[in-house]
Amino acid sequence: MRKILATSALPYANGPIHIGHMVEYIQTDIWVRFQKLRGNDCLYICGDDAHGTPIMLSAEKRGITPEELTKEIKTAHEQDFQKFNVDFDNFYTTHSDENRELVTAIYEKLKANGDIEVKTIEQAFDPEKEMFLPDRYVRGECPRCGAKDQYGDNCEVCSATYAPTDLKNPISVVSGATPIMKESEHYFFKLSNYKDTLQQWLKSNHLQPEVAHKLSEWFKEDLRDWDISRDAPYFGFKIPGSDNKYFYVWLDAPIGYIASLHNLAGHKDVNPEEYWDEGSNTELYHFIGKDIIYFHALFWPAILTSANLRKPTAVFVHGFLTVNGQKMSKSRGTFIRASDYLKHLDPEYLRYYFAAKLTSRIDDIDLNFEDFLQRVNSDLVGKVVNIASRCAGFIRKKFDNKLADELSSPELFNTFKDAAENIASLYEAREFNAAIREIMALADKANQYIDEQKPWVLAKQEGEKQNVQNICTMGLNLFRILMIYLKPVLPTMATNVEEFLNIAPLTWQDIKQPLLAHTINDFKPLMQRVEQEKIDALLEQE
Ligand code: MSP
Ligand code: ZN
Repeated sequence: MRKILATSALPYANGPIHIGHMVEYIQTDIWVRFQKLRGNDCLYICGDDAHGTPIMLSAEKRGITPEELTKEIKTAHEQDFQKFNVDFDNFYTTHSDENRELVTAIYEKLKANGDIEVKTIEQAFDPEKEMFLPDRYVRGECPRCGAKDQYGDNCEVCSATYAPTDLKNPISVVSGATPIMKESEHYFFKLSNYKDTLQQWLKSNHLQPEVAHKLSEWFKEDLRDWDISRDAPYFGFKIPGSDNKYFYVWLDAPIGYIASLHNLAGHKDVNPEEYWDEGSNTELYHFIGKDIIYFHALFWPAILTSANLRKPTAVFVHGFLTVNGQKMSKSRGTFIRASDYLKHLDPEYLRYYFAAKLTSRIDDIDLNFEDFLQRVNSDLVGKVVNIASRCAGFIRKKFDNKLADELSSPELFNTFKDAAENIASLYEAREFNAAIREIMALADKANQYIDEQKPWVLAKQEGEKQNVQNICTMGLNLFRILMIYLKPVLPTMATNVEEFLNIAPLTWQDIKQPLLAHTINDFKPLMQRVEQEKIDALLEQE
């Protein structure tokens, strides 16, 4: 049995979960459920990312404390995840005692190693609000093309990149005041001390080839030291031994993975050291989006090395979600909150659709609603559920819900059984789309079998009663194997099928033995068709 720890990136406690986020949480959840179904010891850890300037300012705007804001958002996030059947072993927060202790201890370690350097830097400062301004909080005219109202780091019109000091007529987004330049001491992590370690790590199969390639580009230039501190006012953890400095949110956020496991250890029999100590034999996987590669594949392994902790077995990067071919956007009505989706559509549709699209690569994936409707209806309703509904009626009416003692086609059963290893390796490799393709090819075979055997014709013939029972038992057994294969993707449907078949929760092991001479329950519809009106209603919302 393998011991595995999987994480998804910690969502910012600053806004709602949207269906773009759901790509990641669904991808990880399917993978983890697959591991558990196979009998592996796999934990799925996550939590909210509670710190930083945007969260501090949002709370202020609403007249509440950042603690209150992040608590409220965490509850909303947890509800969304639960409704989408994303089943974390623990969902915690980075604003916790566990995290504060770990961050402090790790920082002391970095310092003792000589990996922290204090330097004075000059930064935009809002004299009215009396705070330093992150680049995104300064706007002005582009120094190159003159476009108005551009961010402090790049121009959305001509794509120029620059420093906030280069902007013409800059203003602070926070107060509208003209920022001044001001000096301040910052703490830097000496990333350059880990260049060799990182380059070695990068070459050793911990990353997808396209991600490793991207990173090797960054190595062409010298690795710049990483600023891990921020001046007050800031919502985060104070740096011990400093006056008024805080740890930058991106230092304490990944440490939040460790803190979440520590928190779980408080109410479950797990030993966090077993997972995080240097030389650990457990497997550790971080699922992330392509926008945060730098933090997980560069800073994080360096920090872990300096702190004498283990590095991830792999970082799994996915692409971004587009909706009907375009970037999610509020103005186009394609920025869809998870909670709005849930008002109109079944979460298992989206789980299935994402599974059918996801690969191990970092390409973006598109949610096209026409394709979504078509796929869910034709695959799940038209193929999979159809097998059960075609067979269940005969078993109920003619055999009092009792399955036959033997299979009418052991060869076909074996074909289904023998697909297990291939499908398992596709799940393992996050080639979910290929796994789904295999499973649907089997579903076609099952339907073909029923088409050929025609139990509805035999049912009207003299002396064919046993045959009808055998054929329908066969069909239901094929259906049962398909449901095991789909269980990581469709947990609710799997539970309903277990209830229908009157069996204990299905495991991967159950593929080996058919279900015979067993009384099942009455069939109830397992999935509704997707209706176009529901999609329209979702897209028209707001
Ligand atoms: N708080 C950081 C992560 C800290 S991890 C120590 C963060 N939060 S986030 O809320 O912006 O994003 C959470 C995850 O969702 C990230 O992995 C991000 O890539 C992913 N996605 C956010 N929008 C997405 C899409 N539109 N499509 C796919 N994934 C997206 O980053
Ligand atoms: Zn410009």
